[in-house]
Amino acid sequence: MTEHLTIVTHPLVQHKLTLMREKGTSTAVFRQLLREISQFLAYEVTRDLPLTKRRIETPMQEMEAPVLAGKKLALISILRAGNGLLDGVLELIPSARIGFVGLYRDEATLQPVQYYFKVPESLEDRLVIAVDPMLATGNSSVAAIDLLKKAGATNIRFLCLLAAPEGVARMKEAHPDVPIVTASLDRCLNDKGYIVPGLGDAGDRMFGTK
Ligand code: URA
Repeated sequence: MTEHLTIVTHPLVQHKLTLMREKGTSTAVFRQLLREISQFLAYEVTRDLPLTKRRIETPMQEMEAPVLAGKKLALISILRAGNGLLDGVLELIPSARIGFVGLYRDEATLQPVQYYFKVPESLEDRLVIAVDPMLATGNSSVAAIDLLKKAGATNIRFLCLLAAPEGVARMKEAHPDVPIVTASLDRCLNDKGYIVPGLGDAGDRMFGTK
């Protein structure tokens, strides 16, 4: 990918995102919509995966047919909200290896605190797609990418549902080599670090917590 930021403007994505934003949307519907949108986002983030040819036989004849060129993929969920995106992405790429980075946001400082890190081996040989629905301050995303690079990853993409300009700028400054794919670039952050207009706390809405 060459663009630092790609916004997926597909009408179905935008429609589903609007339903997700509405505060009356139930947890079950929110989860289902996230699963659906994440498949469109996965489509976009993988659109330039290299292909090779394989000789196959259709019922009609033999042909050289395109197949993925064996690029190994690793999906990294930034806990906990990342798991909501992960499920949908996995439906499109079921053979990907999966890792988890556990970070929580200290509500006073807005800084990320690590509590879990488990990723597939040979990250250096893989296309790594880190997923987290909300790119807000960018603090936790930058910290997660720092950890992934420290673990060997060199080819990383970041997939999120919503991004704030502040988070995009922070990522661009810290990790200009990491393209971001999102469904929307929202207006800004509020004084508590929430994206506005946003959709509230993605983890709470997805898991029904408060
Ligand atoms: N995390 C969320 O879940 N929502 C926001 O608006 C910002 C960070």
